[in-house]
Order: sequence, then structure tokens, then C-alpha cells
Amino acid sequence: MCGIVGYVGRQGCAEILLDGLGKLEYRGYDSAGIAIGVEDGSVQTVRAEGKLKNLQRAYYQAPFEGLVGLGHTRWATHGSPTESNAHPHRAGRVIIAHNGIIENYASLKEELLASGRTFESATDTEVVAHLIDRELEKNPDLSLHQATQNMLALIEGSYALVIMSTSNPDELIVARHASPMVIGLGEDEYFAASDIPAVLAHTRQFIFLEDGQTAILRRDGLQIFDEQGNSVEMTPRRINWDPISAEKQGYKHFMLKEIFEQPARIADTLRGRLSKELDDVILSEVDISKEWLANVQKIVIVACGTSYWAAQISKHMIERHARIAVECDLASEFRYRDPVLDENTLCVAISQSGETADTLAAMRMAQELGAKTLGICNVVESTIAREANGVLYTHAGPEIGVASTKAFSTQLIASALLAIWLGRRRGNLDAQGASELIQTLRTVPNAMEKILLDAEQYESIAPDFADAQSFLFLGRGPQHIIANEGALKLKEISYIHAEGYAAGELKHGPIALIDEHLPIVVIATKDRVYDKVVSNLEEVKARGGRVIAVVTEGDNHVVNFAEKVFFVPDAHEFIQPILTVVSMQLLSYYIADFKGTDVDQPRNLAKSVTVE
Ligand code: F6R
Repeated sequence: MCGIVGYVGRQGCAEILLDGLGKLEYRGYDSAGIAIGVEDGSVQTVRAEGKLKNLQRAYYQAPFEGLVGLGHTRWATHGSPTESNAHPHRAGRVIIAHNGIIENYASLKEELLASGRTFESATDTEVVAHLIDRELEKNPDLSLHQATQNMLALIEGSYALVIMSTSNPDELIVARHASPMVIGLGEDEYFAASDIPAVLAHTRQFIFLEDGQTAILRRDGLQIFDEQGNSVEMTPRRINWDPISAEKQGYKHFMLKEIFEQPARIADTLRGRLSKELDDVILSEVDISKEWLANVQKIVIVACGTSYWAAQISKHMIERHARIAVECDLASEFRYRDPVLDENTLCVAISQSGETADTLAAMRMAQELGAKTLGICNVVESTIAREANGVLYTHAGPEIGVASTKAFSTQLIASALLAIWLGRRRGNLDAQGASELIQTLRTVPNAMEKILLDAEQYESIAPDFADAQSFLFLGRGPQHIIANEGALKLKEISYIHAEGYAAGELKHGPIALIDEHLPIVVIATKDRVYDKVVSNLEEVKARGGRVIAVVTEGDNHVVNFAEKVFFVPDAHEFIQPILTVVSMQLLSYYIADFKGTDVDQPRNLAKSVTVE
């Protein structure tokens, strides 16, 4: 839930650390800090509460430089977001940055306090620094790596750790368990980071540490060890992401840039996955027996937040086109009930980050119950991607805005590919049926561009709705799910309460909310439930509600009921939700921007939720 960056090499590293933290701020921004080994052999630290700019201000008032250092941007879990709880934490000669949660920290802290050690923070992390320092105090000949290994035997929980010590000023130790950590390889220099974009400006060669592994980073070499401390060889992978794709490219916010990027990312997600005849989907990269997949009895999809709404759309697509029963579960609920699955079940875990703790735990539970697992992930080599039996990557590229946009639409594309692939294998879709769906999928980028051309219209109505206390979003079928995603988007970035509802359920309760103050977004595209939605719309209008309608181009009817109408291109039902969600994203974005909220980093949220 936090971001870490580390450096050892031949350059002064302050800028590298601060710049890297900037790329990781999406992981948390309650406080930030850096520590650097300076010339006299000591380690100098600066920390600041709040966003990175506070740290930068503090650093530039009294700058310092060195060739080894680490930095951290925090999303608070244990201990309030104050400077004293900001990382790096220090105990004696040991300085550390940590992402994760040390679950048994309370008992360890008690023991350390009883032995006379004093604590400066309320974090779970500080015990880690003390435990390593205690090891080095007990045995001054111990290497920092060995002291770290001894400490790891005592802690329980999740961690990505970068560690330095005044007694070993030329090295960094890195450890990983259930929190992401990559190592970047340069020339006479090494980087450690929670995520690739943090150091992509400096290297393209990466090693993805695995759970239980530790590493020693020195200017002249890198050593990696398994849980037992045996040296292991890891092959670096080249990452071809364009570093500037992680920048805003002239857009006011990352979120807006990512909304506009969707047509290209959708094309990327389709690329190489369609047969030459355009009548089948190629899933050669999915490393699960195709025969097993084709005969699967039941599918369970687990996910959280926006990815959960993608799961619900996925259910519609798979049930309709492959005729397999699909259950969808919020991962945080799934793991605490007794789901019925067996070795004939496929569990699909949908996660942009591939690190969401609940989704990962739900997927692991499904594996334990005998199911095979498939990850639909965006972050390459993330934990879910690595642990699932197979992975279908979305090619959304780095998503920096905390509110998910392009990750969601590419998840829908990946789901559509899976539905077609399964439909073909199970005889539910013939070549012609598959071809029709594939042709329609290929129209998505252009159709989306058309909606994006209307962005100014969304911007122009923002002032009329920004003062609303609450919004209702309505739709039926898959559009009901998009209504839910629209409500989630609006509430998380504009802080306006919003609820998504199945339009047919209106009369069973929420109709009581309607008055002349309540804006109601109704998705009424031309599909098989269009007439039903229009009836619901009339019910709303009859009670004085303020209707914003999202309708199919050329629909002249709904105009009569709505204060504002947005048009989306006339499209096959299969892809309609992928288009209307753009409408929801633009509406939410411009209302939030008009209100002046922190769109890319909304309060209390973090991009990657690696704790329960
Ligand atoms: C909302 C949002 C979150 C994430 C959720 C799951 O805009 O981004 O609701 O969708 O935290 O994250 P992933 O997909 O990384 O598992």
C-alpha cells in the first residue's frame, strides 16, 4: 500500500529517489521520506507529512547527497499519517522502508520494549528495524543480509523491505513477501522499486523478486537468495514500456489522459489475439490446458471495486456466448464464506494491479479447493499473474490515476475475448457467430473516439450538477453494471454520494428519493431492454427528477424526458457497456475537476490495496 524506491551505484541518488517516489505516489501519499548514506559514513534522513511536494520542499532547504539511498511514500495503516510515522524508520544503525503489514508486531514490540529499546513511531514497521539492529548488536560480525534473514524468521505478515545500515554503507538489502518488489539493473548501479515506472527512466532490465526471496544490491553486483538463504539465479526481463507513457502528456490529470488513451489500449489488448480469419480468439499465452478449459463446469470470478464491475460484465458475456454458469463474488466476501468449487471449476481473478490482497487471497483459496485459476491482470509479473495457473494480460499500460478507467475497459475486452474463446470451444458460437462478435469488438476504438470528441459537452454541464448532494445511476442488464461503475467513479473522485441501481428495481424503494434536486443518470441505449428503461425514465420524470440520459445516436425520443442527453454510437449490444462507461468516466471527471478535488489521488484512497 506504500511505494518504495532504492538506489545503489555511481550517481548522487537524491533526484533518483525523489523522482521515483513521484511515480509511486499513486500507491499512497500520507507522508514521504528519503534516507541517503552521506560521505562521512552516516545516513541522513528527511521526512515530511503529506504529499511528496512537502518532502521536496524540506529536502531542498537542506540538500544532501550520496551513492546509496532509499525512499518511501506512505499509505497509513498502523499509526496516523504524521511525520514521526513516516518512513524511513531507524533503529540504531539500521534504516528501513517497508510496504505491507507486520501482523505480529505488537508482541515483538512488547518484547523489544522490555529489553530496553525505545520506539519513535506508532508503526508496525519500526520493529523490523529494531530486530535487525538487535541481531547486529548481538553479533557485530554478522552481515546485514544475515541479520535480515534472522529478522525475517521472527516476523509474520506481508512485506517489501529495503534496508540500509551505517555499518554497511555500500549496500542495500531487499526482501519480499506478499508485497511487490522489482530490481532494476543498470551499469554499475541497481534500483529497487515497488513498481516499474519508478525507475523506468534509468533502466529497462528488471528482475521480479518472488515471495520469500531476498537480495543484496551493491554497486559491483547483485545477489539473490531464496527463503533458505541459498543463492539463486534470476533472468532479467526487458520492459519496453515507454517512460513518457507514465507521464501526463499535456492532460490536466492522469485520469483524463488515461480516459483518452482507451481506444489505443483497447487496440493493444486485441492485438495478436484474433485469428487470421477473424472467426476465433487465440489464447496461446494462457497456460492452462485448453481441453480442460473448454470443458469447465463452472466459473467463479473474484475481484474488488471497479474490477468487480468488470467481473459482472464478464459474467453476462460468458453466460450469453459460452453458456457456462458464472458466479461473481467480491473477493473480500468470497474468502469468508464457504464457496462450493472443485477441480472442475475455473476461478478468474480480475485485478488491474494483480496485488489486491483480497483478490489474491480469494484466488489462493480457490486453488486450495482444487479449482484452476486464471488472472486477468494489467501489471506484468504481479503476484496474481504469477500465482494463477494462467494469465490473460490486459495491455492498458501503467495506470497512474487512482480511479480506474483504461484498466476497466481493457478488462472488458479481455473478458469478451475469453467469452468468445469459450463459446467457440463449447460449440455455442460457430465461426459466423464468433466473427460477428470479433468484428464488433474491432469497432470499439473508433466508436470510443467519437464519444471522446464530445468531451467538452460533459465539461459544459459540470457546473450545473457539481453542487448536488447525491446522484442516482440507473440501467438494466449490463448497463446496470455500468451504472454502478459510474456511481463508483463519481463518488470516489468528486466526493458526491452516488448509487447505482437496476432501473427495474426503482419502484421497489429508491423512487422515494426522487425530487427536483436529485440528478439521475439513466443509461438507455438501444438494446433488448430499451423500452423497459424508457418506462423507468418516465417514472422518474413524472416525479420531477433531473434526468441526464445516455442514449444511442439518433434517439429522438428520450430527449423529451431529459434535462441533458449524451449520445453514444449505435453499436452491437456486446460492446455497448464498453462504450457507455466512457460517458460515465467523462461525467465524473468533469464534475470532480469543476469541484477542484484531487482527481488523481482522491482522499483516503490508494491505487493498490495490498492490505485486507
Ligand atoms: C476504483 C478503483 C478500485 C480498484 C480496486 C481493485 O476506481 O480503482 O475500486 O478497482 O481497488 O483494484 P485491482 O483491480 O488492482 O485489484
